[in-house]
Amino acid sequence: MTRMRAAYADQYGGPDVVRVRDVERPTPAGDELLVRVRAASVNRADLDGLKPKPGFLRLFMGLRAPRNHEVGIDAAGVVEAVGPEVARFQPGDEVMTDLFAAGRFGAFAEYVCAREKAFEPIPTGMPFEEAATLPHSAVLALQGMRLRDGRTFEPGARVLIDGASGNVGPFAVQIAKAMGAEVTGVASGDKLDFVRSVGADHVIDYRSVDYTKAGERYDWIVAVDAHHPIRAVRRALKPGGVYVTMGGTTATMFAALGGSLVMSRFGDRWSGMMLWWKPMHRPDIHTLKKLIADGKLKPMIDRRYRLEEVADALRWVEDGHARGKVVITQPAEA
Ligand SMILES: NC(=O)c1ccc[n+]([C@@H]2O[C@H](COP(=O)([O-])OP(=O)(O)OC[C@H]3O[C@@H](n4cnc5c(N)ncnc54)[C@H](OP(=O)(O)O)[C@@H]3O)[C@@H](O)[C@H]2O)c1
Repeated sequence: MTRMRAAYADQYGGPDVVRVRDVERPTPAGDELLVRVRAASVNRADLDGLKPKPGFLRLFMGLRAPRNHEVGIDAAGVVEAVGPEVARFQPGDEVMTDLFAAGRFGAFAEYVCAREKAFEPIPTGMPFEEAATLPHSAVLALQGMRLRDGRTFEPGARVLIDGASGNVGPFAVQIAKAMGAEVTGVASGDKLDFVRSVGADHVIDYRSVDYTKAGERYDWIVAVDAHHPIRAVRRALKPGGVYVTMGGTTATMFAALGGSLVMSRFGDRWSGMMLWWKPMHRPDIHTLKKLIADGKLKPMIDRRYRLEEVADALRWVEDGHARGKVVITQPAEA
């Protein structure tokens, strides 16, 4: 029986509940790939899984303890073996995944095993550690630039990214710039130079300025978390403007859902939760690869950790230190 190292959370809590241990290495069946992980990246979703946010998610994830003990969703690596029904990949292929696309976790491990629909080839020539940053955060950032019906903004639009310094924000700033927008990035004061460095034309320190009260108006606002009530955000939208929030607390998310129904139906602005996220959506992966090939999108890596240090990596993100992505790297051979 072949063994591997993998991270597990046997209870809810902070990063300290995550332990790396020896387990049996899975064998791919059906349309599954077994991938030797060379890099994985930390996402807010990993922390939200450890302490379910919003809280009602415990109904689905396990009331007292997580039902699924595996941790991590984003990985990049090399196909080690394939199940008999796999059509698109073969051993040796370099791939990346957001395991959400296969409805599972487990990226913080020496190997991942999941259905082939959750994998795409990594961008040509891109190091594994950069490829591992893309699947979750860059896809979310791109999908925040359009509504479910495909509506988006025109070149020259004024776009504000609320939460521009973490996982999704730096990708969102770069994608909005590539789409021809004038971009404002919101983050805490000591990260504003970083936000400028990824291309923001303007920056706002949320600790000293509330952008909803600053008198500026935007065509499109993407908030990685709902930090303001919808009625306040409305003030900062031009007529016809759009506010998309990706997450928040239970209260802010329900407010966003309710606000969306009322304001978007009866008002001249669209505001609400992003409910159209499609992980590993192939056309979006192609768009991201094109932006990368054209030099318009570059992953920003803040820190690298080893698999055995996964709790430290999660803590660095949870404590709000990260500027861009935190990556867990692994050697080619165990
Ligand atoms: N809708 C969907 O289908 C879907 C799917 C998956 C994930 N999500 C959500 O997508 C989001 C991803 O976020 P992320 O990974 O980019 O988070 P992150 O890396 O933790 O970044 C958070 C950002 O918010 C900023 N921030 C913190 N407090 C703030 C405040 N009071 N006002 C304004 N900005 C503040 C941070 O700035 P500083 O660091 O400078 O403080 C940072 O730029 C999560 O909310 C996740 O739940 C949504």
